[in-house]
Amino acid sequence: MRHTRTAAKEPRREAGRAATARLSLALLAGLAVAACAPAGETQARQEHKINIAHRGASSYAPEHTMHAYLLAIEQGAEYVEQDLQITKDGILVCLHDLTLERTTNVEEVFPDRYREVTRGPNMVREWWVSDFTFEEIKQLDAGSWFDARFAGSKILTFQEAIDAIRGKAGLYPEMKAPETYGERGFDMERLTLKALTENGLDQPGADPKTPVIIQSFSAESLKKMHGELGCRLPLVLLIDEMDRGKWVSIERFREAKAFAAGIGPSKRILEARPEAVRWAHDVGLTVTAYTFRSSNVGKYKDVAEEMSHFLYELGIDAVFTDNPDKFPRRR
Ligand code: G3P
Ligand code: CA
Repeated sequence: MRHTRTAAKEPRREAGRAATARLSLALLAGLAVAACAPAGETQARQEHKINIAHRGASSYAPEHTMHAYLLAIEQGAEYVEQDLQITKDGILVCLHDLTLERTTNVEEVFPDRYREVTRGPNMVREWWVSDFTFEEIKQLDAGSWFDARFAGSKILTFQEAIDAIRGKAGLYPEMKAPETYGERGFDMERLTLKALTENGLDQPGADPKTPVIIQSFSAESLKKMHGELGCRLPLVLLIDEMDRGKWVSIERFREAKAFAAGIGPSKRILEARPEAVRWAHDVGLTVTAYTFRSSNVGKYKDVAEEMSHFLYELGIDAVFTDNPDKFPRRR
């Protein structure tokens, strides 16, 4: 079973279950609250490492489908990640890309509904989520691109994801490209918080079996969540390799602490700057690195060994992984 298309088109970011799972679930409420804890409690926060399924168990099933989410829970994930996009009619859906063509058959179903955009030297056709109603999006096959066994899988609304995951694991929504959606008249932050509020999940500890952590690459978006919208759920500032040092310094981490509970750097950033883990912990921020997957383990023997290095040698708190079944729990 292989992905038939390559690299996720990040939206140009201006983008051993049983006992272990039961233990994890019992700890989750405390962890979500601990993510907001002051610097002095950092050590306690590090004692339990967190297993986050990246787009679900996305090494084994098509990302962000029900298959991937439920398998992640079976595999012992403590949180299941949802990347959020917004449909033309304002519905939050779970999809990594701003466009539909990588992971669905939109080109067959809606052949004329593309936009032609310039990407580098090329003009390309893109089918934007925000150009389609949810009713239209529901017609798409979101599984065949990954493997024929998953033909007919559907794109899920955030509500469908909440309903499927609630009580079994935590939710870890990422607000994707909130500025881009803002330009299109959508308020992603309010929509996300509204969905959580309607489900009674907008406060830390509201449902001990379903803690919620919100993530974004946009510091402005997280500041709005924390400030203007008064969200007190833990917020995690994602940091990518294009950051060029903007957020990777102890001074900036102190700034981030004013609105975020943690940082989410790419693993490459931490390989280059392992001292950033200590800087973050010193100011009371958790460190959750991305992305650990069996198809890309670099110099490590396997993904379990790679995660183990980051968790137990570099000392990070949590990992986003496509392989939650390989999470190296030490106790
Ligand atoms: O959200 C953590 C990680 O998922 C960020 O990368 O591109 O997979 O959303 P991406
Ligand atoms: Ca993500």
